[in-house]
Amino acid sequence: MARRFDEVMEQHAAEYVIALPAGATATTIPDGTAVDIPAAFGRNAPLIVEIGPGSGEQLVSFAATHRDIDVLGVEAWYPGVARCVAHAVKGDVHNLRIVEGDAAQLLPVLFGLAIGENGLRGSSEIDDRHPNSGNPRAAEVWTFFPDPWRKARHHKRRLVTESFAQIVAGMLAPGGVWRLATDWDDYAWQMRSVVETAPGLENPYRGQRPDANDPEGQRGGFAPRWEGRVMTRFEKRGIAEGRTIHDVVARRSHG
Ligand SMILES: C[S@@+](CC[C@H](N)C(=O)[O-])C[C@H]1O[C@@H](n2cnc3c(N)ncnc32)[C@H](O)[C@@H]1O
Repeated sequence: MARRFDEVMEQHAAEYVIALPAGATATTIPDGTAVDIPAAFGRNAPLIVEIGPGSGEQLVSFAATHRDIDVLGVEAWYPGVARCVAHAVKGDVHNLRIVEGDAAQLLPVLFGLAIGENGLRGSSEIDDRHPNSGNPRAAEVWTFFPDPWRKARHHKRRLVTESFAQIVAGMLAPGGVWRLATDWDDYAWQMRSVVETAPGLENPYRGQRPDANDPEGQRGGFAPRWEGRVMTRFEKRGIAEGRTIHDVVARRSHG
């Protein structure tokens, strides 16, 4: 299995994988690295970014049926990168690129975001002096079934936090949409709170569609299941184990 993926990568990484210089760790990127996203796709087209596509079920299936859109995956797990490439090759999909690394560190650099209040690159503002500040903003960003880090002491490792929401806001075009889904209730409450407190984001379902299990009662704020999302094995497993799937949506506010 592993050898098959190695062969796929040897033959096809040059087309699909945006190569980055090594950072301080395997999943980081030097701050000034220039990445020209339209050049990587060889055209200018609307952009969608999936964070943590895993094996690429959603990423590849969407790209195959939306050839006029460029889809970019950011995946920290090398076997996932290789699987995305293998599935894209199998599906004869060419409007897909993938970068390997930690989204929280890569995305502020790929989109030339300014330094935030925490002293790290990744505010929702663009740093005009950064080489990647001219990259197009995304029409949509997706974060589907992120690792739940279920133990309370591990919650700090969760991807969807207020500081990460600032990065997503900085990547999105005005009116652009961040779609999230999880099968873990307490992560759904966290996602809902994050998108409702993050500057630059609005929850179009705020106050709507309350959930009976929500510790905040009638607060609501959950979106209907997005019909554009394929049923991945993570969603199937959540349902099979009796969990409720929650979708959350945030829209980048104008101005
Ligand atoms: C539970 S899987 C879900 C995969 C896929 N979204 C799905 O629904 O089938 C979470 C994925 O996010 C990736 N991931 C976790 N943390 C990440 C990070 N900081 N940056 C990029 N990818 C990450 C993991 O490697 C894994 O592939």
